[in-house]
Amino acid sequence: MANVLSGIQSSGQLTIGNYIGALRNYTKLQHEHDCYFMVVDLHSVTLPQDPATLRENIESAVALFIAAGIDTSKAAVFLQSHVPAHAELGWLMTTLTYMGELERMTQFKDKSAGKDSIGAGLFTYPSLMAADILLYKATMVPVGDDQKQHLELTRDLANRFNNRFGETFPIPQPYTPEVGARIMSLDDASKKMSKSSTNPASFILMLDEPAVIRKKISRAVTDSGREVKYDPQNKPEVSNLMSIYSECSNMSIADIEAKYEGQGYGPFKKDLAEVVVALLEPIQQRYREIRESGEIAKILREGAEKASATANATLREVKEKMGFIV
Ligand code: TYM
Repeated sequence: MANVLSGIQSSGQLTIGNYIGALRNYTKLQHEHDCYFMVVDLHSVTLPQDPATLRENIESAVALFIAAGIDTSKAAVFLQSHVPAHAELGWLMTTLTYMGELERMTQFKDKSAGKDSIGAGLFTYPSLMAADILLYKATMVPVGDDQKQHLELTRDLANRFNNRFGETFPIPQPYTPEVGARIMSLDDASKKMSKSSTNPASFILMLDEPAVIRKKISRAVTDSGREVKYDPQNKPEVSNLMSIYSECSNMSIADIEAKYEGQGYGPFKKDLAEVVVALLEPIQQRYREIRESGEIAKILREGAEKASATANATLREVKEKMGFIV
């Protein structure tokens, strides 16, 4: 049994990229491992947030965790800000992180590009993420491809700490899906599908209405050919849609190619929309029930209690080893 930790930002509404890349794997891992899943609200304020929107996005994300199938009797579901040990170990990890390491992070480069007045928190973001993982001595971290660089830094920091202060942290590994680790934008297959995009046509939200999903998929960019063939190099748009199809239907890429051979993109896109709608409709139904039930506060209280027990024990051990009086 491994310790599993992962988190999703509340900087927007969750997309099917978040679901396929990460959330769905949370629900798979919870049956066999000791799992901690959180909404990383502290990370979310590394870029400016409107307070009312942030609060709504946090609640919505928690409800989607549960609606997607996380069982709170098995896994702790909580908010990063409800377990103060995250901020405290985050600080200690910042002191162990080199400036050069943070400067190399592609997420920082992407998110700061062309902006003035970049908050220092956006720069030190990966040190807090390392703390998130190490607090639970997690060895398995379900994430999409875009988080692998942050995880690499976490591994380096774990080794650095162990070398300086004695064996403390196991070395965490990413756990990614086979074909859905990087779902791309519907309007531009060179960009990751992202909840913080300003173009709603670029993503499918987990809470998009069926009619909206059908429209977005019918308008998704393809190419001038007509072959439904998986070839990410030469047919990135169609390959991306095939990844979504495969992940949402559990059909293999080869089966999808065979099914649409000689048919062009029309029938493929039409069926893809139905596959996505069929996957999301029951989740959306459960989502509405959870929001109406008023149970979220209780779920978060219990989740934070369970997470704090593990996190506080690790923080104490770390501080003791570093020489603090605890
Ligand atoms: P975030 O909020 O950007 O995304 C949450 C999770 O969804 C995955 N993901 C995707 N997977 C496939 N295709 C996509 N288009 C796509 N978009 C997002 C992400 O890889 C991620 O797994 N830094 C993290 C949050 C975080 C965290 C952590 C994760 C903070 N602390 C500790 C794991 C462990 C982030 O910004 O994820």
